[in-house]
Amino acid sequence: MRPPLPLDLPFIHRCLELAEGPAAAVSPNPLVGAVITLNNQMVAEGYHQACGSAHAEVNALEEWKAYLQIHQLDGEAAKAATLYISLEPCNHQGRTPPCTDAILASGIGTVVFACTDPHPLVQGRGLQRLLEANLEIRGPVLEKEARWMNRRFETTVHHQRPYIVLKWARTADGYLDQGEQGPGPKISGSLAQKWVHGLRRQQAALLVGARTVLVDDPILDARLAGPPHPRIAVAGDSRPLPMDLQVLRKVPQPLWLPWPSAPYSLAGWHEILLEAGLNSLLVEGGLKTLELFLNEGCWDEIHVLENPTLRFGKGTPAPPEPENPLVQLQLGTDRYRVYLHPGWVPGQNAPDLNYLREHFIPQTSLT
Ligand SMILES: NC(=O)c1ccc[n+]([C@@H]2O[C@H](COP(=O)([O-])OP(=O)(O)OC[C@H]3O[C@@H](n4cnc5c(N)ncnc54)[C@H](OP(=O)(O)O)[C@@H]3O)[C@@H](O)[C@H]2O)c1
Repeated sequence: MRPPLPLDLPFIHRCLELAEGPAAAVSPNPLVGAVITLNNQMVAEGYHQACGSAHAEVNALEEWKAYLQIHQLDGEAAKAATLYISLEPCNHQGRTPPCTDAILASGIGTVVFACTDPHPLVQGRGLQRLLEANLEIRGPVLEKEARWMNRRFETTVHHQRPYIVLKWARTADGYLDQGEQGPGPKISGSLAQKWVHGLRRQQAALLVGARTVLVDDPILDARLAGPPHPRIAVAGDSRPLPMDLQVLRKVPQPLWLPWPSAPYSLAGWHEILLEAGLNSLLVEGGLKTLELFLNEGCWDEIHVLENPTLRFGKGTPAPPEPENPLVQLQLGTDRYRVYLHPGWVPGQNAPDLNYLREHFIPQTSLT
């Protein structure tokens, strides 16, 4: 195994960019992107588009074969080519054949990787097989960034639970709703709502409590950001909900997470979600549902949107926020704060602070 070269960086960067496109459509698989270069020119690229479909390197190799044909190059050219990949290739038969087979069959001489695959079936075996076949292997490159991109996948492998994102909207005087009087007017502005839809398409599942479904009658999709839409999960007991609610008209059988009974534990929910192939969860309330996660410290990110001009005077108080937001900015008419669980340590098991802050700053395309 060799250390990376400076010229490897932009190509691995491109792999990460490609990988992120399909968002939660790949769940429970990792996000993966691949690029093939010849004489340091990018000639083919590919990414894993959805769970069950071809892996990134196989898609890039398809483009590479077309390139060889168009330019009437033979297999000899492959020796001089380099495959860049954001995650170590797999070496086992899963829903698709081992990617190492496809790489070896292509004759490509060099492979550069961003990070190894923590999955128990891979863990270095993919790279080992390529090394034994005398390919030149360089890496890791942008390892922390690549692992962070796959934090949902990594969390399922290391902690046997989905990656958990909590989100709530609060008024200037700290309320989630108007209590007895009902939810009250919408708290967040239009830009914040669009941003929340972007957050939704990143997570495999979206959870709300049964009372929120009843009281707010929400639609719960990512329509303002575009697909993939998260799978809808509802936390509640066995009382049936009226079928004319908007969510149930669209999804008559949402994933039902049985309301925990004493002594409650979220472990059962984690099992249900992972069995359904859902590696990340966005929890959007209400308070009772959020508290289940907050009381156990079981979360990875918290996103809070505060309307600085709306006051309810009374209602359900928003949960207390942790100290030191990672990001704190104005998002349209709302104040936006993001917190990262202290278990994620910038520069250690996460990228450095600047990278993380940039990652959470809404893109200008939102405005
Ligand atoms: N500002 C925000 O970000 C935000 C986001 C979402 C919701 N909200 C507001 O939060 C309020 C609801 O929150 P919440 O904490 O009361 O509840 P919730 O977390 O939405 O749902 C959990 C509660 O639902 C009830 N429940 C359980 N199973 C049920 C079933 N099968 N049928 C009907 N009810 C069932 C249970 O309460 P019981 O056992 O007491 O019935 C349980 O405590 C609404 O006013 C909503 O507008 C605000």
